[in-house]
Amino acid sequence: MRKPVIAGNWKMNKIRDEALQFVYAVGEKLPSNSQLDSIICAPAIILRDLVKRQGDNLRIGGQNMHAKECGAYTGEISPIMLKSTGVEYVILGHSERRQYFNETNETVNEKVLAALANDLRPIICVGESLEEREQNKTNEVLYEQVTKAFVNVDPKDIDDIIIAYEPIWAIGTGKVASSDMADEACGYIRSLIEKIFDHSIAERVRILYGGSVSTATVDELMAKEHIDGALVGGASLKEEDFIRLCESAVKVQKV
Ligand code: 13P
Repeated sequence: MRKPVIAGNWKMNKIRDEALQFVYAVGEKLPSNSQLDSIICAPAIILRDLVKRQGDNLRIGGQNMHAKECGAYTGEISPIMLKSTGVEYVILGHSERRQYFNETNETVNEKVLAALANDLRPIICVGESLEEREQNKTNEVLYEQVTKAFVNVDPKDIDDIIIAYEPIWAIGTGKVASSDMADEACGYIRSLIEKIFDHSIAERVRILYGGSVSTATVDELMAKEHIDGALVGGASLKEEDFIRLCESAVKVQKV
């Protein structure tokens, strides 16, 4: 059984007071942690405050980190620093990081290994651009991103890893991928995990869809075989929408 996940990626939004208000407001209204992993990935500067007030049913994550433990990397945050805030998760390889901050499949892999070594659970983002989809290169891109992200990953860590399929053309555009298209890509990613490890590991790994997910589209996406949850940007900023997304996700259990 794969426990569903709703992960909010706030990106560079919300100052501390707004973030705390959100956490208080969603508080007891979220489904139990035994049924769902509800996660908010927030700007690093407020992570400690959120962890202190997260309650029983919400988990907190970072949005990025450096792979090294310390050193002369002005402005960066290391895995041990992130871990010391009490967060459990960290988004790695988000397309905005790849696009604007020069992240590559190799740096994503270094960060994945560093996160796991520091007991942080990586949410690894992959996905193609519009141009790549139009040129029928989606699987090629996913193959490169997934196989490289998993180099030297120990199969025993698979339950701590979440993969998020986020086609770049669907992010923040209102153009959600059709549920069939999203399921096909998530199924392909699962087949790659089977090739890298084995069938039982591929059946266990949780794969999310991300890109313009809303309360209107979540049910259809969640009903799909290979989609175990959603990584949500815009719709995770509103308390009532986040709660509604979480409620939808628990209705479906994947075996
Ligand atoms: P939107 O839900 O705003 O399209 O963002 C998706 C995303 O990038 C989540 O990481």
